[in-house]
Amino acid sequence: MGTERTTDITDAVVDSFARTADPRLRELLGSLTRHLHAFVRETEPTMAEWEHAMGFLTATGQRCTGTRQEFILLSDVLGVSMLVENLNAHRGPGVTESTVLGPFHMTASPARELGATIDLVGTGEQCVVSGRVLSRDGTPLPGAVLDVWQADAEGFYDVQRPDVQPPGNGRGLFTADDEGRFRFRTCVPSPYPIPVDGPVGRLLGATGRHPNRPAHIHFIASAAGHTPVTTHIFVAGSPYLGSDAVFAVKESLVKDFAETDDPSLAREFGVANPFRHARFELVLEPE
Ligand code: BEZ
Ligand code: FE
Repeated sequence: MGTERTTDITDAVVDSFARTADPRLRELLGSLTRHLHAFVRETEPTMAEWEHAMGFLTATGQRCTGTRQEFILLSDVLGVSMLVENLNAHRGPGVTESTVLGPFHMTASPARELGATIDLVGTGEQCVVSGRVLSRDGTPLPGAVLDVWQADAEGFYDVQRPDVQPPGNGRGLFTADDEGRFRFRTCVPSPYPIPVDGPVGRLLGATGRHPNRPAHIHFIASAAGHTPVTTHIFVAGSPYLGSDAVFAVKESLVKDFAETDDPSLAREFGVANPFRHARFELVLEPE
């Protein structure tokens, strides 16, 4: 009797939430309790292991600041961000697929004219990104807004290196023209490691996982009467397309950044010839 282990407390904990007024909160807490208890029963952590786990979560919280979101990073490397994203993507065929928001969309992107550059420091190889924003039936969406952000050619976002990059570097808010067209200039993005100088980096190190993401540009596209989409385009041929540290690659989002030798197009875009050019359509679902 004295040495018997009492492990049947799950129902009591679930019942303790029975008076939760919000039915969804009651459901979530009940399910969390059952799954967490099942995990503990299955793995039987020692006290030292549980203290280690609590220490890890504490350190994760302590690593969060206004410009560093270690909990989002943890959700990303565990594949939970992508799972939630995919479960919420109720979109029809032909509509641009979504992918993770990531932790670096934390500042308002500066509004820029179509054709402007978001590369304020001039790193890396020049490229042009252009295309159209369309509704699912192919109708152009004039006035659609594109919020764009990317790391510089060395793989860092402005907020990670405020001493090297001015605020807003690699970011832009663009409004599509009256035919739904957009275009901007930037540098060809590079693959980069997610931040590894915190608890999530230690987790990756301890499990032999690499921290890298394939080269990409982030977008949130929105237009009146349509469901906004949070997505990326990935650079075709980039390393890590097959092993993204945050499981966010979708085939339909991989785009050619084609070598382009066309002096008159280069003049039109205001870049030196030859240049790299990514062209694609963003297709939104009507509400
Ligand atoms: C990003 O692409 O900005 C990102 C996404 C998930 C984790 C870290 C970075
Ligand atoms: Fe990114």
